[in-house]
Amino acid sequence: MMKMKIGLLGFGVVGQGVWQLLEMNEQEMLTHAGVQVEVLKILVSDVHKDRILSSDNPLYTTQWKDIVYHNDIQTVVELMGGINPAYQCIKEALKSGKNVVTANKALLAQHGVELTKLAEEHKVQLRYEASVAGGIPVLQAIRDSLSANVINSIIGIVNGTTNYILTRMTQEGSTFEDALQAAQEQGYAEADPTADIEGFDAAHKLTLLASLGFKTEVSFQKVYREGIDKISPLDIEYAKELGYVIKLLAIARCLNGRIEMRVHPTMIPAGHPLAAVNDAYNAVYVKGNAVGELMFYGKGAGALPTASAVMGDVINVARHQQQVNAPTCPLHYQPSGKEVQAMDQTSTAFYIRLLVKDIPGVLGRIATTFGGCGVSLSSVIQKGETEPVSLVFVTHKTRELALRQAVKDILHMDELVEVASVIRVEELS
Ligand SMILES: NC(=O)c1ccc[n+]([C@@H]2O[C@H](COP(=O)([O-])OP(=O)(O)OC[C@H]3O[C@@H](n4cnc5c(N)ncnc54)[C@H](OP(=O)(O)O)[C@@H]3O)[C@@H](O)[C@H]2O)c1
Repeated sequence: MMKMKIGLLGFGVVGQGVWQLLEMNEQEMLTHAGVQVEVLKILVSDVHKDRILSSDNPLYTTQWKDIVYHNDIQTVVELMGGINPAYQCIKEALKSGKNVVTANKALLAQHGVELTKLAEEHKVQLRYEASVAGGIPVLQAIRDSLSANVINSIIGIVNGTTNYILTRMTQEGSTFEDALQAAQEQGYAEADPTADIEGFDAAHKLTLLASLGFKTEVSFQKVYREGIDKISPLDIEYAKELGYVIKLLAIARCLNGRIEMRVHPTMIPAGHPLAAVNDAYNAVYVKGNAVGELMFYGKGAGALPTASAVMGDVINVARHQQQVNAPTCPLHYQPSGKEVQAMDQTSTAFYIRLLVKDIPGVLGRIATTFGGCGVSLSSVIQKGETEPVSLVFVTHKTRELALRQAVKDILHMDELVEVASVIRVEELS
């Protein structure tokens, strides 16, 4: 039996989930994993908050140094979130020869390369399975189980909040605002939902997925990002009519030595497995050149699902620390020569919804404008008896640059009232 003494930096949703999981499955971890985990200290900012342990519990501290420099703590489990002081705590813990387990995707997307190098330098482990898709063990699968493959693409629904909102809009016809409020009432969305709604959280996770999948350093700053706040119930209705569902997708593809990384609302075929991922669930769809297509599905957040991934990492740290060459989880690789594709050079199909004045010939003139920019149309829907009239176009796969030029030209047309929405369409075949 191996012993692992840990300190928890943070005792919020996930930290308390870890405690609950230890109570619930201690015997399981002992018998089957052969690891006995003991919590020696817990960091919080305010000991008087209402939590599962009473405020006079001697495990509590408000000083991170009590954990990071504790002589007996072997693994520091960082569950505070945010960049500082988490960044400083992890660096100091690694330098002090302690292993680190973290769920902090924002921190890793920005400093993961440096931190994994630091872990190697000090011959300790840094593990971060819970940082992407919560309880779904997708990072280890990509890093280890699929290491005999060339990964061609990774496409994920990796933000539960936005998926919950889009599901409410699709299934109940809610507006974005009402669905966001429902997400906040259910505890799926923060009081400040910006990181989720605007796609930052998904972009952080995509950075980690792409680094591990394509074995190359990728920068979070190079991820193209669009949020879901402009999606209207009307777009959801048109999507249904066209046989699509709208999802916030995090897409990483490796094509001809170049990497595409983008997060944006996307229309996908209603029959694709990702279209059936609803509510706050997450899924990651991976294509490898040997394994073919795989989909990982499950709970991407929540106390126990996330704690499951955190404790899996703690157990793996215990198991691997006795090996001479313990495997690490690097986010740094030899230069691969793979460059990130500029967004205007990517190709997708597009859905464009315009509001126009009801003038004879308007449809033809707009179609001609698309054609003039090299954008070919696959379908057109015209609706509305009163002005402004709704015109919906779906294009064939086209360069983003050509589509942007067409929209620019349409914006100058006298007949145009508004470009109401432009949404990318992925057939995912
Ligand atoms: N929630 C999820 O479902 C989920 C899923 C996947 C990944 N994650 C990641 O897991 C991490 C933790 O998330 P969470 O939802 O558990 O957060 P949370 O509920 O806000 O808990 C954060 C904890 O850290 C403590 N803390 C924060 N800053 C501190 C400081 N400067 N000094 C001392 N204590 C500090 C807080 O103390 P107080 O209690 O005193 O405020 C609290 O106990 C984040 O990186 C998040 O992105 C969360």
